[in-house]
This record gives sequence, structure tokens and C-alpha cells, in this order.
Amino acid sequence: MAREVIRIVVEVKTSDPVQTATDLLAVGVFADGPDPELIRTLDERLSGAIGRVRKLGDFTGKPATTALLYGGAGVGPRRILLVGLGEKKKATMETVRTAVMTAASKAVEVKAKTAAIAIHQDFPFERLVRADQIAQMVAEAALFGAYRWDEYLPQDDDGRPEKITVTILTQGLAAHSYRRGADIGTILGEAQSYARTIMNRPANQVSPEALAAEAKKLARQHSNLSCTVLDEKQLTAKGFGGILAVGQGSAHPPRLIVVRYRPRKSAGTVPTVALVGKAITFDSGGISIKPSEGMQDMKFDKSGGVAVLGAMRAIAGLRPDVHVVGIIPSAENMPGGGSYRPGDIVTTFSGKTVEIQNTDAEGRMLLCDAIAYATKLGFDAVVDAATLTGACVVALGEWTAGVMGSHDGLIEQLKAASSATGEKIWELPCGEEYLELMKSKIADLKNTGGRWGGACSAAAFLREFAGTTPWAHLDIAGVGCVDGGKKFGSPGSIGFGIRLLTRFVCDYQPVKVEKS
Ligand code: BES
Ligand code: MN
Ligand code: ZN
Repeated sequence: MAREVIRIVVEVKTSDPVQTATDLLAVGVFADGPDPELIRTLDERLSGAIGRVRKLGDFTGKPATTALLYGGAGVGPRRILLVGLGEKKKATMETVRTAVMTAASKAVEVKAKTAAIAIHQDFPFERLVRADQIAQMVAEAALFGAYRWDEYLPQDDDGRPEKITVTILTQGLAAHSYRRGADIGTILGEAQSYARTIMNRPANQVSPEALAAEAKKLARQHSNLSCTVLDEKQLTAKGFGGILAVGQGSAHPPRLIVVRYRPRKSAGTVPTVALVGKAITFDSGGISIKPSEGMQDMKFDKSGGVAVLGAMRAIAGLRPDVHVVGIIPSAENMPGGGSYRPGDIVTTFSGKTVEIQNTDAEGRMLLCDAIAYATKLGFDAVVDAATLTGACVVALGEWTAGVMGSHDGLIEQLKAASSATGEKIWELPCGEEYLELMKSKIADLKNTGGRWGGACSAAAFLREFAGTTPWAHLDIAGVGCVDGGKKFGSPGSIGFGIRLLTRFVCDYQPVKVEKS
């Protein structure tokens, strides 16, 4: 049996951090300003150890730096981890998120079975956020930082904890709100870890068929989820030409995975949202093959689809009054005797024809079918997430996803979800001038738009398949395909999009259809 992810149980307690018996107490420390009472008391009980570590210059309170001290008589914690928070006036929720991630990662490193997080500082933003929001963020961050992808490492007795109990220590006033927030944060954190594991698994483990089996398993575990999968025969019968074209070069045939979430309120009284995710289990480029350097990272090309799966899991746990369907087209993009080729003309699900110029522009070929299918099912709004273009990585780097769309109201809601969850997005254009680049002389469209503005022309292509349904697109190539987790202990996926998409769905307000 492969190793399971380290289980994190988040508790909330009103107790004095100095007296709390725990393997590791994490305490946030600002780089400036007077020390709060907790730091002064700890320093005193540790005979000036905090003062000494600072005097040596080993710890200055810079963001995400740490110093490890050891407890003794007169203090409950066996270890005390100072975590830098930087300058007080610059601190945001994201500063604390990073600090908690760092602390949780350290807890795994020292093989702690219990850890405690002291919420003791007067953050400048504290008046702006509620206690439950702070606790939710702390729980999410604890699960994120303690995540390790080690299911293929030998399961020897290295003392790696199977479970860590993380206790949030409050000053008592809002313990109830903290509890509620911690529960929500745990649901989101578990969904994110679940998705990270599937994203990290290589293509010889996760084929389109295996991903479909994973989605079915998820639906079995939640009574408010159901899952149907279209195989290559059904895709052929229904005319999913784009998905079939991309998948036809692989020994592992494509699938269309559809996961439905049913809210408690009956249909007709709640808004409906479709989440579409690109799940290329491996992107070799196909006949337009990619250079070998870095090709291994193309196992992450399924990250949009898996983010949708992770979001569906979180949505099933949080139970918002929104009808949600997750639509995940999945294929492996391989060169082979059966591959689609440059020059081919593909008739897509919508009926529109596409001239293939580059088989490596495969994501849009899958997504155009899935988006057209979502609009045919009659959903009020469609949001897709895809590791779509290298151009988006060039434009925005590794920490911010691109957002484009046909409807400002929808994009605004995604931006609001982004600032609430710390998963950064930045708007790029996808209007008429970019669509011009995608027009073909021999078919309705072609699948590449030239070198410049590649993220924008790709989005303009997708826009054509949404019709009048409000649609938005997240290009997560930078945050999804790049090995971003190493900073917090586990190389590989950071599971981008689960928190963002879930928050978007939970806060969703119906948007008006713009007349075109
Ligand atoms: N999955 C890639 C996009 C990608 C590239 C993600 C690098 C992360 C890092 C996508 O399928 C692709 O190959 N896009 C091409 C499109 C081009 C051929 C028009 C690209 O961006 O180079
Ligand atoms: Mn590609
Ligand atoms: Zn791709």
C-alpha cells in the first residue's frame, strides 16, 4: 500500500501558549516594533534565548525565515519556532499564510506529532477580517505546508508522522468563529492536497482512463456528487472531434469526465455554473514535438482538470446553493501512427472547423469541445482553467495566472475570489483583434495565432465556442506546470485553483447575459 498524505487535524483551544504542551509552538515575530507580551514572556522563561538569537543576527524577523529554540522547565512547548513576519505595517493575510506554511513544513521536518500556532499579534489588518477567515487561512496553510508527495518513496520507519494535530491557540474571544473557519479551511486544504497528489503523479500512473476512475471514486465518496464518463466510442457518436483528434495518437484513449454537484435546494431555484478543466495527462507536443528539456513537467498539463476535480470535492464538502458541473476533457498528446497532424482539418463538437497548424496547441482543441458542451447543457456561466500557453508564463511568471473572458461581471467575481484566497490572477485581453489572428483561409479557425500575444489569441479562440453564455478563462500554465512546491518542502504541484474556484462558486452571483 502506498503511503497516504500526512493527515492534519486542526483544533482550536483557548489556552496560554507558554503553558501548552506541544512538540512545536510556532510564534510569529515582526522585524520591527515592540515585542508583544508573549514574546517577552517566552524570552524571560527561556533565559533570554530569543534576545540572544537576535543579537547573533541569526534571526531578524524577515518574512518566512525561522529560528528553532528548545523549551525547558517552566515552558510547555518542547520546541519554539520563531517565524518572521517582516515589517508590521506591510503585513497582510498572505504574510501570515506564508508563515503558517513555513511552520507546518518545519513541523514535518522535526517529525512533530503535535504543533500549536499562537495567534497573539495585533495585525494591522485584524479589524478588516473576521476571526473565522483568519482560522480558515491558518488551517489551509497548515495543510499546505505539511503536504508531502512521498507515495513512491520506500515506506521505511523514518519516523515521518502519519498525522499531526495542529492546535490554533486563541485568546478566547472568538473561539466559536475560529472553530467554524478551521473546519472550512480543513475541507479546502484536504481538497487541495488531494489535487496536488493527482497532479504530481506521472503519466504512466494517470492516463485519461485512470483520471476518470479517480473522478468516479470521488463521486462515490460524496452523496451530493455524481460522475459520468464518455469513452472514445461515445465521444465519436456525439461528435467530440476536438477531444478525439488530440487523443488519437496515444495508446490511452481520451475521456470526457463530467462530475455533477447537486445542492440541497432544488434545481430551478439556484444558479448554475460549469467549471471546465484541461486534463492532458502528458503533453509531448504530438507530431509538433516539444524539445526534450523540461518535457517531464508536461505531466502537470492535467492541472486545470484536476483543479476542477479538487474544487468539486471542496464544493461537495461546503455545500453551497449553486448547481455545479465539472467538465474535464482528458487526453494524452502523443506522436504516433494514429496522431493528428499539422494540416488536418477537424470538425469540433460545435460544428466549427479548425485547421491544425501545430499539434502542440492541443489544449484549445479539447477545451473548445468542452466549452461548447457546457453551453449546450444550458449553464448560466462557464469558467475554464487550463495550463494553456507558454506565452502566459512569459507574461506573468510562476505566481500569477491569467484571466480573460467575455463578461466583465464574471471576471470581477473571479478577481474577488482571488483576493480572498491569495491565489493571484491578472487580467489579459482577448478581444476582436486577437480573434483575427485565429481565422483560417480554409476552415472557420486555425489553432495557432502566431508568436505575439499567444495567451490572448488562445483565449480569443476559446471565446468563439462559448456563444452568448458568460465565459471566463484562467490560464494557469505558470502556476500549474512549474515545480513551485519546493519552497515549502514538497517539490511539485502547488495545487493552484482549488481555493479560487471553490470560493468563486460559493460566492457566485448570477450574471446578466450581454447581448451580442
Ligand atoms: N501545455 C502547453 C502550455 C505550457 C507551456 C504550459 C509551457 C506550461 C509551460 C500547451 O499545450 C502548449 O504547448 N502551448 C503552445 C501553444 C503554441 C504551439 C501555439 C505554447 O505555448 O508553446
Ligand atoms: Mn501543447
Ligand atoms: Zn498542453
